[in-house]
Amino acid sequence: MSDVVTLERQGAVAVVRVNNPPVNALGVAVRQGLENSFKAAEADPEVKAIVLVCEGNTFIAGADIKEFGKPPQSPSLPDVVNGIEAGSKPSVAVIHGTALGGGLEVALSCHYRIARKDAKVGLPEVKLGLLPGAGGTQRLPRVVGVEKALDMIVSGAPISATEANQLGVVDEVFDGELLAAGLAFANKLIADGKGPRRTGERTDKLEGVDNAALVAAKRAELEKKAPGLFSPQRCVSAVEAAFTLPLTEGLKRERELFAECLVSPQRAALVHAFFTERLASKVDGLPKDTPVREFNSAAVIGGGTMGVGIAMCFANAGIPVKILEISEDARDKAIQRARDTYGMSVKRGSLTEAALEKRMTLISGVTDYADLADVDVVVEAVFEEMGVKQKVFEALDANCKPGAILASNTSSLDLNQIAQFTKRPEDVVGLHFFSPANVMRLLEVVRGEKTSDEVLATAMAIGKKLKKVAVPVGVCDGFVGNRMVFQYGRESEFLLEEGATPEQVDAALRKFGMAMGAFAMRDLSGLDIGLAIRTRQRQTLPAEFKLPTILDKMAEAGMLGQKTGKGFYVYEKGSRTPLPNPELPAILAAASKEQGVERRELSDDYIIERTMYALINEGAKILEEGVAQRASDIDVIYINGYGFPAHQGGPMFYADAVGLDRVYARICEFHEQLGAWWKPAPLLEKLAKEGRKFADL
Ligand code: 3HC
Ligand code: NAI
Repeated sequence: MSDVVTLERQGAVAVVRVNNPPVNALGVAVRQGLENSFKAAEADPEVKAIVLVCEGNTFIAGADIKEFGKPPQSPSLPDVVNGIEAGSKPSVAVIHGTALGGGLEVALSCHYRIARKDAKVGLPEVKLGLLPGAGGTQRLPRVVGVEKALDMIVSGAPISATEANQLGVVDEVFDGELLAAGLAFANKLIADGKGPRRTGERTDKLEGVDNAALVAAKRAELEKKAPGLFSPQRCVSAVEAAFTLPLTEGLKRERELFAECLVSPQRAALVHAFFTERLASKVDGLPKDTPVREFNSAAVIGGGTMGVGIAMCFANAGIPVKILEISEDARDKAIQRARDTYGMSVKRGSLTEAALEKRMTLISGVTDYADLADVDVVVEAVFEEMGVKQKVFEALDANCKPGAILASNTSSLDLNQIAQFTKRPEDVVGLHFFSPANVMRLLEVVRGEKTSDEVLATAMAIGKKLKKVAVPVGVCDGFVGNRMVFQYGRESEFLLEEGATPEQVDAALRKFGMAMGAFAMRDLSGLDIGLAIRTRQRQTLPAEFKLPTILDKMAEAGMLGQKTGKGFYVYEKGSRTPLPNPELPAILAAASKEQGVERRELSDDYIIERTMYALINEGAKILEEGVAQRASDIDVIYINGYGFPAHQGGPMFYADAVGLDRVYARICEFHEQLGAWWKPAPLLEKLAKEGRKFADL
């Protein structure tokens, strides 16, 4: 039939086989191949049933995302799936791996579905700023009812084969070979005289339920939880069409809504986020065949906030890990903290008691470096002081086996200097986790000037194994993420001195899509960290780099954030809900006065410009210095480590969307009005003047 879709006959069963690596996406050749194969099977009088099966690791994982934004090519996916459903011979989709998006829509157009027990199915289009556009919003509600369909389509979260079976999405769960299971099921259909069973013709699950109320509730929930997002509300409208319109009309409505999403800027940003997350793992200049060292055992030095979280990451990945602490007491406390943290997951229902115990068997505590002689990878997470790091790395050098990866989780110290404390700087690398390390997906992999290719490749592989988004970065103060966030933090403090309140700044940032406001975030991590940086900078920075004084004043008043119950907000005992801090206005007024600033009204747009353009200008400097290898890597870091909204694509994508000429012009104005911090990055200036984008680099 074609290279990517083949047709053969096994007895009375036609076998349609898709083979389009890596994920059997529904590019034009697959769509054409499916259409041709199903038509040929329909026309063959010997064929009594049809089985659809896929090669490789997965069933069809969806439409080919690379085709979005390009001129459409026939046949369209809706036409293909409608054709499959209309067929007169029973068809069976045999699902393994993931049947996602268009993949599940193809499966739903088949008359029966079976799934291997480790498979997952879902409609994740919303995560790409879309909605299921090939009948998913019309057929899924007909199978599982409106409530569950709304849940699945609006969240985009996949479900397991077992749950799919319970819900009737799949008819049978099997274990074993795909084709054999498919043929057995199809031959039984033939033997039982079963004909086609078209999902589109069903209405039973749409009846007897107040679907309108379910839709209204979902709309209200979204207005609260995702006010700025384009596609989720349209997902709801499409599902609504499933019970308010006949199938053909519903499919038409779905198509219109899909087309609206397809051209939305949020779709472009979310697809950018999808592809760049995968691109970030590719290290420029690192040969593909670079060997990766084995890592079957790990150690973490320092069982504090970060160390325990990092140890949990290894245990979650099934890798035994030792935590080394300074005393038996500190060691035992670290182990207990890991148990307590897992315990909270058990309480929330996201982990079973058995899984907790299993993970805890992988975490052990030690106090002697001699116990680390065999480990493959060590991550140091002790106090952020060079003297302490020196002692640790000297001890590691003396005790660890040759070839062990020696990593530091330092957030600001010079990795090259740390590497010099060993006689094997080529084995030293930075693994910069984000807090809480067991939760946050981002991992900056810091390449020192002597880090070997092999060690870098292994560090990236460790990141993948720990299910992190690993992004390679170079050595500088704060690496990529924290170096940029410093600019953002400083500007937001200046905004307070100029007239804004924390509530106003945070509301503007949340409206932009940030997961948390700048000040709620500062309260969460504690103001002392920022204060320490400020104090250090006051001693080293040239005088023209003015610094805000709010933090000092707040620290004097004992306001260090959530840990003291008071910071930019106040927190009632045991609560993390930020409430206005009644003492803050006086502090802000004093700071404004001291800086000689007349407090004024600031608009939300201005707040976004000041905070976002501060990130972008520093991002441009980072790119120019080669600390990040691509603008999109910076986006990946911000989305995965700092709650930057994926639907804005990351700070550098956002800059391109606004237009670099406009961003540059504003930064020039800020430079004139606000001083040295705002000196435009030469790269930004160059690109703006040439009419180019960061994406063009
Ligand atoms: N289209 C094109 N390329 C895709 C793709 C897709 N739908 N899904 C994955 N790929 C590519 C990736 O970019 C990657 O390419 P690379 O090797 O060049 O970097 C490669 O396939 C492997 O992907 P992963 O690294 O993500 O592999 P994993 O094994 O970790 O994950 C997966 C596999 C779970 C299928 C994951 O890739 C995934 O979630 N893909 C997207 C699924 C999706 O969103 N489907 C819906 C698409 S929209 C749609 O169907 C619209 C329809 O309703 C009309
Ligand atoms: P922490 O103060 O919570 O924990 C440090 C732990 O190290 C303590 O338990 C201490 O007993 C132990 N320790 C100190 N000296 C030791 C030694 N010589 N040998 C063995 N153990 C020793 O500190 P935290 O926050 O966990 O930070 C650790 C490192 O991680 C620092 O380098 C920090 O910059 C970095 N980091 C911190 C982040 C955060 O948000 N807290 C985020 C990313 C990195």
